[in-house]
Amino acid sequence: DKGTYPYYMAKEMDEQPAVIRKIIQSYQNEAGNLEIDQAIVAKLTASDRIYIVACGTSYNAGWVGKQLLETLTHIPTEVHLASEFGHNMPLLTKKPFFIFLSQSGETADSRQVLVKVNDMNYPALTLTNVAGSTLSREAEFTLLLHAGPEIAVASTKAYTAQIAVLAILAEVVGKTVGLSEENNIIHDLGIVASSMESILSEKEQIEKLATDYLSTTRNAFYIGRGIDYYVAMEASLKLKEVSYVQTEGFAAGELKHGTIALIEEGTPVIAVITDERIAGHTRGNVQEVHARGAHTIVIVMEGLEQAGDQFILPKVNPLLSPLVSVVPTQLLAYYTSLHRGNDVDKPRNLAKSVTVE
Ligand code: F6R
Repeated sequence: DKGTYPYYMAKEMDEQPAVIRKIIQSYQNEAGNLEIDQAIVAKLTASDRIYIVACGTSYNAGWVGKQLLETLTHIPTEVHLASEFGHNMPLLTKKPFFIFLSQSGETADSRQVLVKVNDMNYPALTLTNVAGSTLSREAEFTLLLHAGPEIAVASTKAYTAQIAVLAILAEVVGKTVGLSEENNIIHDLGIVASSMESILSEKEQIEKLATDYLSTTRNAFYIGRGIDYYVAMEASLKLKEVSYVQTEGFAAGELKHGTIALIEEGTPVIAVITDERIAGHTRGNVQEVHARGAHTIVIVMEGLEQAGDQFILPKVNPLLSPLVSVVPTQLLAYYTSLHRGNDVDKPRNLAKSVTVE
């Protein structure tokens, strides 16, 4: 039931702070510590490489997962598109551990990889929103997203839930191997939940940006570096699928190696800047496109802002920044779709769960 919301997507974006709190609660034991099935932790700590396999938005969440897992556990992590991996499998290491990310748990492209992984007897964990789904039943291990049913075709709360659960998993494994001891993901996710609330209370500001920059454009670019690039990929997918604006999520530094040829007077370019180590470089790329006529929007983490930036994000643990930086981009996609008169919840040609390869 969408209640008073015009679309499920609007409701599901708004549910994100509550979902983050639900996840913290669900993975906390009575002593208030994070807890993950010991068997999962044991297999992960024994593995020499993690392979994340997924499609679409879940694949984009996988890239943030890679950053979290490598930083907190020091286990090398690769991210693969399921539709590519199954038919063109890379050389695997001796002790691989597979993580399947799937909101629905029914995606055929991901399932065909899981079948092969099971045949090879490698351990597999499914992160899914649907208990009892195919990918959950067929994988050795499951962790649930606890996001509640996601009805809108465009995935929003499942993306942030996947990242939150991956952060918890990474921290538990990291602490088990004596790393990331100073981290406190429970505390940091609590701050994320309140920060999401504050962003969601500034919807009018984002709706205005959608009106001013995106309501009539043919194309648009999202740019970022590192963790902000991963968010740019998801922001771009969200915008294109619900608004039908042709978009690309681009590594900010790569733009000048070809794609900058597409920038003309009025092309919207949206930069995500949350990582202070690369902020200056991304700023440079914003200047490059601005000088060629682009209409630039800067979404920036508090503390890194400059005069003229369009949206300031509340400060959170930099590793968790995608959980907040993605929210204004979801809202931009939503309002652009709404203003263009599209069916926000059911974009053309798309289905909620893709059960064919
Ligand atoms: C995008 C979207 C799709 C799904 C993809 C994977 O908003 O919904 O890209 O993310 O089809 O679906 P799951 O996560 O169910 O495997």
